[in-house]
Amino acid sequence: MIKKKIEDICNRQVEREGYSSSLYIAMASWAENNGYPGIALWLYSQAEEEKLHMLKFIKYINERGGKATIPAFKKPVAEYKSVENVFTEVLKHEEFVTDSINEIVGLTLEEKDFNTHNFLQWFVFEQVEEEASVRTIIDKIRLVGNNNMYQFDKDIFSLRTPAVNAQVNP
Ligand SMILES: [Fe+2]
Ligand SMILES: [Fe+2]
Repeated sequence: MIKKKIEDICNRQVEREGYSSSLYIAMASWAENNGYPGIALWLYSQAEEEKLHMLKFIKYINERGGKATIPAFKKPVAEYKSVENVFTEVLKHEEFVTDSINEIVGLTLEEKDFNTHNFLQWFVFEQVEEEASVRTIIDKIRLVGNNNMYQFDKDIFSLRTPAVNAQVNP
């Protein structure tokens, strides 16, 4: 049976993963409206992944005898200055999520909840990958410059792993 403290903090993460999904959909929609279909696809597929992260937490809490709560999500920002601005916001958000996951890991050690500690390891690895992939994208954007987004928009999918590309572009 999951302890109340751990249940609560995992439910907090349900909200954060779900909000990540909403945020990336809002960014994808901005990209679509501003002539960047490749970037939009990247963000939509990222939003799908975040939904799966939320579901992982929901299922885990319920599996351990807790009760997952499905929250309301705050409205994400819909306007961005540039593609670079979108991705620096993505990175900021992913760093926030990494801190959030690490805080839960810390609590599982304090509470000696080794099951949840083990469950979280997937997320610990995932955050390293997510931050690294966004940093690579920001480096590329700075390399080509904000006014050369046409080719970048076409190329962005090559920065994804083949498995994700196949999911979105079957
Ligand atoms: Fe996530
Ligand atoms: Fe993420």
